[in-house]
Amino acid sequence: MEPSQKFEQSARAISRMMGMIFALFMVMGAFLVYLMIDPTFSAFRPDPKVDTVAVATVEEDDYDKIENGIHVRTGFVEGEGLMTVVNNCTNCHSAKLVTQNRMSADRWRATIKWMQETQNLWDLGKNEDIIVTYLATYYAPEKKGRRPNLENIEWYALEQ
Ligand code: HEC
Repeated sequence: MEPSQKFEQSARAISRMMGMIFALFMVMGAFLVYLMIDPTFSAFRPDPKVDTVAVATVEEDDYDKIENGIHVRTGFVEGEGLMTVVNNCTNCHSAKLVTQNRMSADRWRATIKWMQETQNLWDLGKNEDIIVTYLATYYAPEKKGRRPNLENIEWYALEQ
């Protein structure tokens, strides 16, 4: 082999190697740049934002969850007008103050009127009928009602 041929051969080999090293650096450089932008490789994992939204939706659903016919958050019985009652009747006092009562439609209406006159309850507009109907249906005196009236009692007089 002539020396010039030998030289040419090794020169080609060197330039090939330089090319490969250059390509390697390019790939590594690109990788490093990516690592700087996204060090946790989050682009290759499921979007955590999507998960958060899903969780938030579930929590929102849970907020007005109904279990065994009971609105869990307030204890109201499920029925037509439930959410109108929840939204108007649990702002000032607990729902329990409502659910522990049993009244006829008239008395529910009178209680609402009393709160409007003395407790700053707002005008319920069309919702008043929805609320009274709901309450008179699910919190009526007869149905599950309070205990029966006491009978045959001998009342005693309080001594002053
Ligand atoms: C603006 C505030 C407010 C809102 C809203 C409100 N109430 Fe009341 N309510 C009161 C206050 C104040 C009392 C008296 C609480 C007490 O005695 O501790 C009361 C008492 C009651 C009582 C007990 C009455 C009694 O004779 O002991 C019932 C029943 C009642 N509310 C039902 C309702 C219903 C049904 C709604 C929805 C239409 C409602 N409340 C919405 C303020 C409100």
